[in-house]
Amino acid sequence: MSYAEKKQRHDELSALLKKYSKQYYIFDAPTVSDAEYDQLYNELLNIEKEFPELRTSESPSQKVGAKISKKFKKVRHENAMLSLENAYNEDDISTFMDRVKKLSNRNDIAFVLEPKLDGLSLSIKYKNGIMISAATRGDGVIGEDVTENVRMIPCIPQKINSENIPAEMDVRGEVIMLKKDFEKLNFERKQNGEKLFANPRNAASGSLRQLDPEITKSRKLSFFAYYIVSDDKNFETQMNILHFLKKFGFNVNENYALCQNQEEAFQFYKSLEKKRANLEYDIDGVVYKTNDLHIQKALGASAKFPRHSIAYKFTAEKAQTTILDIIVQVGRTGNITPVAVLKPVTVGGVVVSRATLHNKDELEKKDIRIGDEVIIQRAGDVIPQVLYPILEERPLNSVPFKFPDFCPCCNSKLVREPEEVAIKCINLNCKAQLTERLIHFVSKHAFNIDGMGEQIIKFFFENEIIKSPVDIFGIEEKNIELQLENLDGWGQQSVKNLFTSINNAKIIPLNRFIYSLGIPQVGRSVSKLIAEFFGSYKNFIACVSNQEFYKLESINGIGKSIIEDIKNFFSNENNMKILKQLAGDGSSVGIINVTDVEKKESDIFSNKSIVFTGTLEKLTRDEAKELVEKFGGRASSSVSSKTFLVVAGENAGKKLEDAKKFGTKIITEDDFINLIKKS
Ligand code: IVH
Repeated sequence: MSYAEKKQRHDELSALLKKYSKQYYIFDAPTVSDAEYDQLYNELLNIEKEFPELRTSESPSQKVGAKISKKFKKVRHENAMLSLENAYNEDDISTFMDRVKKLSNRNDIAFVLEPKLDGLSLSIKYKNGIMISAATRGDGVIGEDVTENVRMIPCIPQKINSENIPAEMDVRGEVIMLKKDFEKLNFERKQNGEKLFANPRNAASGSLRQLDPEITKSRKLSFFAYYIVSDDKNFETQMNILHFLKKFGFNVNENYALCQNQEEAFQFYKSLEKKRANLEYDIDGVVYKTNDLHIQKALGASAKFPRHSIAYKFTAEKAQTTILDIIVQVGRTGNITPVAVLKPVTVGGVVVSRATLHNKDELEKKDIRIGDEVIIQRAGDVIPQVLYPILEERPLNSVPFKFPDFCPCCNSKLVREPEEVAIKCINLNCKAQLTERLIHFVSKHAFNIDGMGEQIIKFFFENEIIKSPVDIFGIEEKNIELQLENLDGWGQQSVKNLFTSINNAKIIPLNRFIYSLGIPQVGRSVSKLIAEFFGSYKNFIACVSNQEFYKLESINGIGKSIIEDIKNFFSNENNMKILKQLAGDGSSVGIINVTDVEKKESDIFSNKSIVFTGTLEKLTRDEAKELVEKFGGRASSSVSSKTFLVVAGENAGKKLEDAKKFGTKIITEDDFINLIKKS
């Protein structure tokens, strides 16, 4: 190969290695195996040996990846810190479970499932309950001594006050940074002109691996413990270990479950995937662990992975793409939302071509520009969002986005209320707002009119077929002239179906009706509270017609600002007119029939808050929550002086202690079920 050819190959290899390492470190989604990566890397090193001038500071050979940093003292782990094999689908899990059963010669294997926390693993050595040292994983065999820094993490005990502490033990777990602490840290760094951390994991890692422990102290780090390495015979199972870790004063993540089979495990996996976006910290999968430690030991490990555990990763939810354009949308309440138009990209199995940029402040804070390469995220059912631009790849001619001063639809001057983030178009007759309100009116959780999607609403509105919600119920009559069935894209059947959906929608429960009105801040749950308070449309219309808004103050969960929005809405004559045309004025009937709120089966938990803690054997958390709501209460995640009842399962921890502290009534899962049966 000539020099030119070698140089070209070097360029190719550099680009590939950079891409792969980004996929690995930023997205946690490697597309090549470690072996393949190493092969390419060695090829690059060989070329550089021959032509040292190619070894520039930009070469991947000069970048430190997960290599052990030189600045910390190295420590050898007495027990290697292995990593976990990855599973990507249910078949991989079947194979794993079958293998465990076959190798252990048992059929009744239980697995403990825990969230795969996205941080960095840490091993802390204790002798007679006193913390001696702490080390990062490093390459699994040799780690970094971060003892002094770990002493700065408040939730890690330096001295354990408990019985049954093994004389010697290593506690293993994950150092993480809560999403909110990460946001705060990056905000401060931005203000100080410092480089931002890409994600909470990088922030946690960067904060722990500081030579000055005072810096670690100033960063908010958390730790979840998940394993104890010791010879102690007390620990029979992984469940047992979690129990002891809690007893010893460690933070143990609450979202674990003991599962007896694949079906149960999959249910748990799904429920955790759903919860993921709302957790306070990042997780990227579920770890399946054989519960019985004797079996774990017997299964042993291959060169890289233990055979008793596996990590089932969630589908990747971050991706890189290009911003083709930034548009601003007008919402039904006049809020102006910037939206990124993206080069389509698949994230977690869905093609995404738009992502929200939230609001003007957020857009300016992140300085996202047209033409930028960006990282986008899609979590659960949440709308895709742009996380941050990759500044190194920003085009030279890029300019900051200029947020408009005038409404893109009606051209009226946009306003910003004092202390609000939202920029608004306050022209109530703005066409964009009117159509958005109609779209909301027919949407799934409001009137749920099938066959009346956004495009159709826009078509009806632009052609002046409907101007207000009332007109929707008059289309069928108007169709004698309109003859929709003769238009392009319509037919006899689709028109017939549309009219059936419209007619079916004429009976609507009060909560949905209130929601359909599109009052600012009155979403589904607030609408439900209002509906339950009034019980019937008759009571509701009487209150708003008489402007007796003070009555709303007695609804638990509705504050001043919401009442202000409700008052504004019903003080508008046009809104009142539409309301009465639709559903009547309380004595006369309207076009539609708003049904009364069904009486609760029983109100044993009426407006009370109930907390579940520990492992429930008979109910899933979702089922328990549903029961509480069915009986008028609210399932809450933390205990306070206002908590009505705590239901404690096995291995209940801090919440149970809180309950004792507050003198809250504590019952078992069986008591809870009996209580419901009796009512
Ligand atoms: S158990 C033999 N449990 O995942 C390894 N690891 O890929 C035993 N991790 O290095 C680890 N959450 O940093 C375990 N609940 C959890 C975990 C967890 C995150 C990390 C850990 C480990 C990596 C392995």
